[in-house]
Amino acid sequence: MLHGRRILLVIAGGIAAYKSLELIRRLRERGAAVRCVMTAAAQRFVTPLAAQTLSADRVYTDLFSLTEENEMGHLRLSQEADLIVVAPATADLIAKLVAGLADDLASTVLIASDKPILLAPAMNTRMWANAATQANVALLEKRGVTRIGPEAGPLAEAESGVGRMAEPDAIANAVEAHFVAHAALRGRKALVTSGPTEEAIDPVRYIANRSSGKQGHAIAAALARLGADTVLVSGPTREADPPGVRVIHVRSAREMLAACEAQLPADVAVCAAAVADWRVETAAQKLKKKGAPPALKLVENPDILATVARAGNRRPRLVVGFAAETENLVAAAQEKRVKKGCDWILANDVSAASGVFGGGSNDVRLVDGRSVEAWGRLSKRDVGERLAARIAQFFDRKAAE
Ligand code: CTP
Repeated sequence: MLHGRRILLVIAGGIAAYKSLELIRRLRERGAAVRCVMTAAAQRFVTPLAAQTLSADRVYTDLFSLTEENEMGHLRLSQEADLIVVAPATADLIAKLVAGLADDLASTVLIASDKPILLAPAMNTRMWANAATQANVALLEKRGVTRIGPEAGPLAEAESGVGRMAEPDAIANAVEAHFVAHAALRGRKALVTSGPTEEAIDPVRYIANRSSGKQGHAIAAALARLGADTVLVSGPTREADPPGVRVIHVRSAREMLAACEAQLPADVAVCAAAVADWRVETAAQKLKKKGAPPALKLVENPDILATVARAGNRRPRLVVGFAAETENLVAAAQEKRVKKGCDWILANDVSAASGVFGGGSNDVRLVDGRSVEAWGRLSKRDVGERLAARIAQFFDRKAAE
């Protein structure tokens, strides 16, 4: 399945471009989001409107369109993709990629990108057999580009031979295989907390906070995409359950703690929930308006992060917490790391000026015992991706030790 995957599909000019429309459908059926870039030649074979309709997204065609550069520069097109698929990959576009030419949007996106690339070549059999094409493809493979096809069979010009683009289903399978091969956290169990907690005042009222759950959910989704067996323990949020993640819905801090403890041992725990620090000594019956307003007595809640980080032989190998701070970000994060006994703290600037709480992005630094890594302002999805990648790297290094 390709849930949550973002594919940038570059369609170059060849008759096989009609099959790329089918590929858009196949990828979307499997859960991927598909965004298309078309070369000028591709638009002679199929229309951007067809690709736009099937992808349910804008189609990008022009490097020099000012609006495109303003709203969606070519760098962002690749940044917002997990994989670039070039289908059909023509002899011309392959040669451009080898030489580093960037004279249109498709070639510029490919050269300006650090994302993995999957080529599905399609061309006349003699063009494919040509020594230049063969050398170009070999060189790209050496540089880490992967390839599917071309296949042997009837070609458009009433000829037959090797040159046909792989079938859309086979390309979609290759896309899935790519993500499986890059599932760096396969076999690891991850526990993530997310969202606010709700602390009851009486049977109908509660205290909560403004946490949206976006960040914790994005982290769980990113860990699952890297193949981790991921359990998300979430307080009440408007966020949909991330695909491929086992979600346990809870309300109060104490329910969250119990759910987390039941998931140990795990390999990694990420506590992103905005757990209420205090709960109310709950009234058994609804409080009535009589006399003076009631005084709510607050009692301290258990600290889930600290409990998980001090779980003895059930402690995850890596425990990650968040520090939401409005001042002295790094110093406060270091202190919190020691106090709570976790390994890493993602220090998040939540000062009013940052607009982080409830918003789409975070301004984060990763603080461990030795260093501070400033990640800058990233979307919550990108923070999730980056953290999942760092977690994978941590386990890679441990395995190598
Ligand atoms: N956390 C937790 N359980 C709690 C309180 C906090 O698991 N009862 C976790 C959060 O998920 C976060 C980290 O602890 O990963 C830091 O939470 P934060 O609210 O920033 O710190 P506090 O401990 O509440 O300290 P303070 O409010 O004094 O900054």
